[in-house]
Amino acid sequence: MNHLEIAKRIARDAGAMIKSRLGTSYVTDEKSSSFDLVTEIDRASELMIRQRIEEQYPEHTFLGEEESFGSGERFVGRLEQASAEPFLWIVDPIDGTSNFVHNMPGFTVSIALACRGELTAGVIYDPCSDEMYWAAKGQGAFVNGKRISVSNVDRLEQTLLGTGFPTDERARAVGVECLGELSGKCRSIRSLGSAALQLAYVASGKLGAYWEYGLNVWDTAAGVILIQEAGGTVTDTAGRPFDLFTKNIVASNGFVHQPMLACMQPTIHA
Ligand code: IPD
Ligand code: CA
Ligand code: CA
Repeated sequence: MNHLEIAKRIARDAGAMIKSRLGTSYVTDEKSSSFDLVTEIDRASELMIRQRIEEQYPEHTFLGEEESFGSGERFVGRLEQASAEPFLWIVDPIDGTSNFVHNMPGFTVSIALACRGELTAGVIYDPCSDEMYWAAKGQGAFVNGKRISVSNVDRLEQTLLGTGFPTDERARAVGVECLGELSGKCRSIRSLGSAALQLAYVASGKLGAYWEYGLNVWDTAAGVILIQEAGGTVTDTAGRPFDLFTKNIVASNGFVHQPMLACMQPTIHA
């Protein structure tokens, strides 16, 4: 079985475990703030994914949100090292923990593989809709076996946008400024509570574009390769190409990318 098939199988099993605990009691902790939640299910999901990947590929490198590479400079240093590895698995064990905690659908498992810093495969599984999104470099993007592509809408006023409210307060404030800027210019704006799900929705043409400040590589990696393979464009908010260090993201069908960039705030272009 190849990397992609293994990732799909693991994401499906982790998703089923998470969904089986929806609405049950579990321990919830706040990380950096009351916006930033983690549950014992996030940790259990990451452990399961990590163990399954290590069983298959003991020599590969693993980067999961919860095991934490540390923060700040320590994180950047470790990511620099990891991004030089021939096989780096990048995992968000539950993307959309707030939805999960509030007993709502809209949480996903996100697994990506990068080879020396280049994304080669990505899987996003939504256990509530049973939608499995995947992409592999040069092979296209799919949902449940059906090829997907980005939308062909080329006017912002006909575009449905997605965004998120990041845990970092500064990033959240800048994102809200963009929301103010964009709200009169597009059809409408959704915030679905999972960055990975919204990136998958851009790849499948449901959303025309998505932006968010202050994300991490585990939120974005799988979604980015999906969009690239579905014909879309992903950059940072200053228009530079996406890489594993990108925190402020604009992802689109390509046609509305420039108008989106024009509405981004220059304040935290890292
Ligand atoms: C969060 C979700 C949310 C986004 C936040 C992320 P988590 O991830 O993707 O949609 O707005 O910025 O931190 O904490 O649920 O894995
Ligand atoms: Ca996340
Ligand atoms: Ca998470």
